[in-house]
Amino acid sequence: MTNDGVGSSAAGAVAPTFHEMWEELAALGRDPRTGGYHRLSWTPAERACVVWFQEQAARRGLVLDGDGNGNLVAWWWPDSASPERGRLDGGVVTGSHLDSVRGGGAYDGPLGVVSALAAIDVLRASGVRPRRPLGVAVFVEEEGARFGVPCLGSRLMTGALTPDEAARLRDATGTSLVDAMRQAGHHAELGPSLALLRDPVAFVELHVEQGRQLADLGAPVGVATSIWPHGRWRFEFTGEANHAGTTAMEDRHDPMVTYAMTALAANKRARLLEGRARATFGRVEVEPNAVNAVPSRVRAWLDARAADERILETLVGDIRRQAGERATRDGTRLVVERESWTPAVEFDPTLRDRLRLVARVAVAGTGFEAGEVPLLATQAGHDAGILASAGVPTAMLFVRNPTGVSHAPAEYVDPVDRVAGVGALAAVLADLLRH
Ligand code: GLV
Ligand code: MN
Ligand code: MN
Ligand code: MN
Repeated sequence: MTNDGVGSSAAGAVAPTFHEMWEELAALGRDPRTGGYHRLSWTPAERACVVWFQEQAARRGLVLDGDGNGNLVAWWWPDSASPERGRLDGGVVTGSHLDSVRGGGAYDGPLGVVSALAAIDVLRASGVRPRRPLGVAVFVEEEGARFGVPCLGSRLMTGALTPDEAARLRDATGTSLVDAMRQAGHHAELGPSLALLRDPVAFVELHVEQGRQLADLGAPVGVATSIWPHGRWRFEFTGEANHAGTTAMEDRHDPMVTYAMTALAANKRARLLEGRARATFGRVEVEPNAVNAVPSRVRAWLDARAADERILETLVGDIRRQAGERATRDGTRLVVERESWTPAVEFDPTLRDRLRLVARVAVAGTGFEAGEVPLLATQAGHDAGILASAGVPTAMLFVRNPTGVSHAPAEYVDPVDRVAGVGALAAVLADLLRH
């Protein structure tokens, strides 16, 4: 199978292949020391990815639209229509995000965007004429790596986060979301913007799998069933700064100790739930952060997820209680604030089954043995989940990641599996556009 994103643009010129697109993106925001990507929203590296996307859309004759939150959609219109001829609702939307966590992998987000562009090229090359508009969406700040709330763009779009709540967000340096957007030259107008997607009949997000399920099953592509509920909590431990040498061990009020014991307790609590929960402290700030001083304050962020909301609430409640007990013992103070919450998501079962059927045939057509397209539950958050919660018929395709690693440089998709992913996505989109 060689249709690795080869296709023609609206003007008849050959559009860049998947490989060429991937090579162009690969250079943007990469830390040569670690191989990880730093594409935090509204920073030059992430904006370079967005400009790259806008250029790709233009080369294909797609019509760009955007909202005041920073979300973008590039539309391929039916031959009979042009945006000037008025609104055309009821399209199909695909896409993902271009931002990354700090030190992230190359695939989380960009795979869905590049595969979407390549899928359009495949559809064009095979003579598909869409009856509905097809949009490629790029959602902003999916990771919440800069402003703390994951899927910020899609939450604002659907109203899951209010403009006032978003306006209060600050990054680690104290810059507000609105200021960051303005500094990047974007006219910020935060608020609901679901109209940007034009009342789609379906949203389909293709994404790298962030675990090893497909690798273990020997399948290149899978379909998502659900997303675990998850959230983020900021734990602020306050103690008393003092000299590391002259302060006797029993005289200290050391918030680092309270934090450390809390991190251990969180790990143990989640382990006791035997695969049904996760608890991670992945970000910590220490004041004054001096080697020879007992700290005055530790801020640590808990990311917790579980198989259902009741388990999650109990888990976080237990961690908070243990942290509070430890704070009493250490003579420190604890304040906990929830920064985000994402309820459990079940993807549209009808759409899911339809995707599975179509993807199965398509994957076999790309040279793989005709096997089942597995159904997978995931513990990772996605804009697709936010749209599903807002009532948009939504589905996700996952592409095999042989390392099983994600949010780290080892995240990977084999080029052969990329072809299977593009083939499956193109077939799914063609099917949805036909009806
Ligand atoms: C985003 O990828 C998340 O699930 O944290
Ligand atoms: Mn992602
Ligand atoms: Mn991610
Ligand atoms: Mn995600």
